[in-house]
Amino acid sequence: MLRKLGELTKQPTLKLLIVSVALLLSHAINAQNAERPASTRYEQRTPSRDGIGKFYMGREISHVMGHQGADWLERPEREREEMPNILVELLKLKEGDVVADIGVGTGYIARRIAPKIGETGTIYGVDIQQEMLDLLDEKMTAAGITNVKGVLGTITDPRLPPASVDVAIMVDVYHEFSHPYEMLQNICRGLKTGGRVVFVEYRAEDRRVPIKRLHKMSELQVIKEATPHPLVWVETLDDLPWQHVIIFEKIGVE
Ligand SMILES: C[S@@+](CC[C@H](N)C(=O)[O-])C[C@H]1O[C@@H](n2cnc3c(N)ncnc32)[C@H](O)[C@@H]1O
Repeated sequence: MLRKLGELTKQPTLKLLIVSVALLLSHAINAQNAERPASTRYEQRTPSRDGIGKFYMGREISHVMGHQGADWLERPEREREEMPNILVELLKLKEGDVVADIGVGTGYIARRIAPKIGETGTIYGVDIQQEMLDLLDEKMTAAGITNVKGVLGTITDPRLPPASVDVAIMVDVYHEFSHPYEMLQNICRGLKTGGRVVFVEYRAEDRRVPIKRLHKMSELQVIKEATPHPLVWVETLDDLPWQHVIIFEKIGVE
């Protein structure tokens, strides 16, 4: 059944239909969810090996990747596995854009974004681990990049200046937010109206992607979790070998 759905979703018209129905359904369900007090938003169950035992909309949240694993983010084979330069092309960034790289880690993606937005652009490189921000500074200095500003966020707030960001990107990050609802709410506050949020997540629908289950997300789960927020789904790009690129736009709220 799931495999059949996976095959169907490869056909663009059917995919659009399925996503639209899913959007309508989840908008209805999540309208209630958004109203829920924080104490009932999440569920606590027995943790699985890679999870924290906290569930949001049926999904168990994974552990945060510690700074001790920073070398993995810079592994040479990542070029082949994730094609980061193609990812950056897909973002269609412009000179002068303000980008928030949430969960920036060592800046592997930020380093590739920096030349696209030029000296007049800014990247807020947000992380909750000061050790990651120290590595980010080191690597940007070594590369002679000056338009990346490290920001120490909290588990609920990336501390972005309000309505200042054109594109907020999360590469292999969202699934490990301990407070996904609050994070997305505050990311939306930091976005300009018309600004984009980009989720880059390993494809849960594809068993061949050799990544732990809780570190992958399906397209529909991402869409479901975005619906309580002032976001509209724009498109999902599946040009990368292992990852979805799922793009939303912030709409004005009356
Ligand atoms: C798997 S790493 C990915 C790093 C980077 N995006 C990359 O692709 O190279 C996930 C990062 O997200 C950070 N992180 C987790 N929860 C966060 C939150 N609530 N706010 C900001 N960063 C967070 C972690 O500290 C870690 O550095």
